[in-house]
Amino acid sequence: MLPVLVVHGGAGTIQKELAEMYSEGVRVAVRAGFAILQEGGSAMDAVVEAVTLLENNPVYNAGCGSVLNEHGNVEMDALVMDGRTLANGAVSAVRRIANAAQLARLVMEKTRHVCLTGEGASKFARAMGVPEVPEESLITDRYRKRWEENLAPGANPVESQTGPKGTVGAVAVDSEGNVACATSTGGIQNKMEGRVGDSACVGSGGYADNRVGAVSPTGDGEAIMTVTLSRLILFHMEQGKSAQEASDEALAYMWEKAQGLGGVVVVDPRGGWAARFNDTQMVWAAAQGQQLHYGLYRGEDFIQPLQDPDSASTQDHHQH
Ligand code: GLY
Repeated sequence: MLPVLVVHGGAGTIQKELAEMYSEGVRVAVRAGFAILQEGGSAMDAVVEAVTLLENNPVYNAGCGSVLNEHGNVEMDALVMDGRTLANGAVSAVRRIANAAQLARLVMEKTRHVCLTGEGASKFARAMGVPEVPEESLITDRYRKRWEENLAPGANPVESQTGPKGTVGAVAVDSEGNVACATSTGGIQNKMEGRVGDSACVGSGGYADNRVGAVSPTGDGEAIMTVTLSRLILFHMEQGKSAQEASDEALAYMWEKAQGLGGVVVVDPRGGWAARFNDTQMVWAAAQGQQLHYGLYRGEDFIQPLQDPDSASTQDHHQH
């Protein structure tokens, strides 16, 4: 049933006391993006709106709230893809902008390239009138403190990471059956300067094709790139698998071949959808018809009416 929007706010281990905050943010984002679809807006407009809200929310590792690299700087990756034409755009290792997914959309719409990186991406942002923001405005006390702790002799930046590792992302099908995806991230904590993750790489950090569906992943970027996770899921769907079956098969393969943990949100053009992960948790929410679905742990699917955020019931969804 169309339209549909599914978003995620990262996969990993989320501290109990932060869980409600993580979950609330994806529900707010999915409602806002879905309102665009209900008014007849495009899948591309909806996914960029949802991801923009998640980037602006300091809880998530994207935009404001991004993790810091080894030098204490924020370098962000993002991509968007439009399933109507396969048009796509990305930025990698971009600094001092608030909304990397919007800049990725400008790369798609205003250049003949699919990815701009680093200083070149910043120059392009200035040329497009995208405001430069102070780096400090993107950094939260939590990650500044974590970065300082990680400088201590013997610290293990990977082990000290709590909260979802990933990324934020969204996939949608609009009422005309067009699909789109958007993904955005600060990457991984204490990454080397110039490290580019999956979220800037089409086919890995997202893919959208009206013939098959759309995917936005989160998790271990190097593993996601190694198996080109998003395109792999769509390949399985082309072979006749459902969004859920395709996601589970590709995530199992990513674990087997690259010991990668993460998760995905997926739609097909008929309105089938999935939110699947092989990490401990993934923060996700989906809107379709009159219902908002959301969850954090495997097998969890809380459902509430879109119009009534106060009433929630728990049900199981294993097939969509
Ligand atoms: N999946 C986000 C990253 O590894 O950068």
